[in-house]
Amino acid sequence: MKAKLLSVAAAAAALLATSANAQQTVKVGLSLPMTGQQQSTGVQISSAVKLYMQLHGDTVAGKKIEVIIKDDGAVPDTAKRQVQEMIVNDKVDIVGGFGVTPVALAIGPLATQSKTPAVIMAAGTSIITERSPYFVRTSFTLPQSSVIIAGWAVENNIKKVVTLVSDYAPGADAQASFKGRFTAGGGQVLDELKVPLASPDFAPFLQRAADAKPDAIFVFVPSGQGGTFMKQFTERGLDKTGIKVIGPGDVTDDDLLNGMGDAVIGTVTAHLYSADHQSAANKAFVEAFKKANKGLRPNFMAVGGYDGMHLIYEALKKTNGDTDGDKLIAAMKGMKWESPRGPISIDPETRDIVQNIYIRRVERKNGELYNVEFATFEAVKDPGRAKK
Ligand code: PHB
Repeated sequence: MKAKLLSVAAAAAALLATSANAQQTVKVGLSLPMTGQQQSTGVQISSAVKLYMQLHGDTVAGKKIEVIIKDDGAVPDTAKRQVQEMIVNDKVDIVGGFGVTPVALAIGPLATQSKTPAVIMAAGTSIITERSPYFVRTSFTLPQSSVIIAGWAVENNIKKVVTLVSDYAPGADAQASFKGRFTAGGGQVLDELKVPLASPDFAPFLQRAADAKPDAIFVFVPSGQGGTFMKQFTERGLDKTGIKVIGPGDVTDDDLLNGMGDAVIGTVTAHLYSADHQSAANKAFVEAFKKANKGLRPNFMAVGGYDGMHLIYEALKKTNGDTDGDKLIAAMKGMKWESPRGPISIDPETRDIVQNIYIRRVERKNGELYNVEFATFEAVKDPGRAKK
């Protein structure tokens, strides 16, 4: 009897200890493409998350931060199943990551039902943040950059354009927002090409684009595909025709830029981040990131992950470690800080990111290719959202 009592007491103590432990830990579950076509996004974001924790410690408001990373291969069904498991079994308090739009959209209902804050660190379709009140975005939207490059094209004597985008939601967003601004400024869109997302062969589309004899091709391909696009553009001799490449900066991704060769020099894009961004915060970030990752250069996905962790840390500080979903979201709304990309904030109305968009030109600097920023549009909200 005594032994039984003791064991009950021991079990109760063990239970108490576990729940005390549980309370002392905040779990963050990330769903990222660590394999497959979008792998570079997973590598960039997970490396940035680790770096943030290395530089800022793994304890916030007295709680230990534990990050769980699941490889979703950029497949929505896989992400949905794994995020559900993380919420139900691992009892994560916050989720995040989401390398592509279809994955983010698949997580919306889960975040809403379980009241779990979900930090969009990569995906860029405007509509995502409308799909759950628990979504907060630290990445970007395609219209943010596409509208600005359209305005630049209008002002720089580009009159005829063929658009070429990956055939899924962010491509449609990029295409529509570019066309709206470009045609309003008197430009003409000669053809609208959509390239399959998986294993893209750009050659036939480039041929069709060249045949239309535009001043420029407006391109959106997701991070990871820019190298293939530029290679096929040069292989077909399009760099010699005077047809320019313009677009959001995904196509001259910092991750791949150095491998693109001199043909890419002079390409003008609009984007949220360049590894060459001139600020003390960015210099320190790039140096630390390279040091921790065998010289890998951070790209715009890395800053989405780094800032996503910052948002989580600062929200926890504000709630004093309380992980209640509604309290965390309230704490995140309106937050402002200096990112390696420049000043950013979370729009308190839409939970979407407000950030500078820079116009950049590819140049060789100290032997390496960089997107060199030469004009800044400050505090840009998602124009896609404004339209709806
Ligand atoms: C997206 O799927 O939303 C996405 C992915 C990669 C990018 C941009 C957008 O570079």
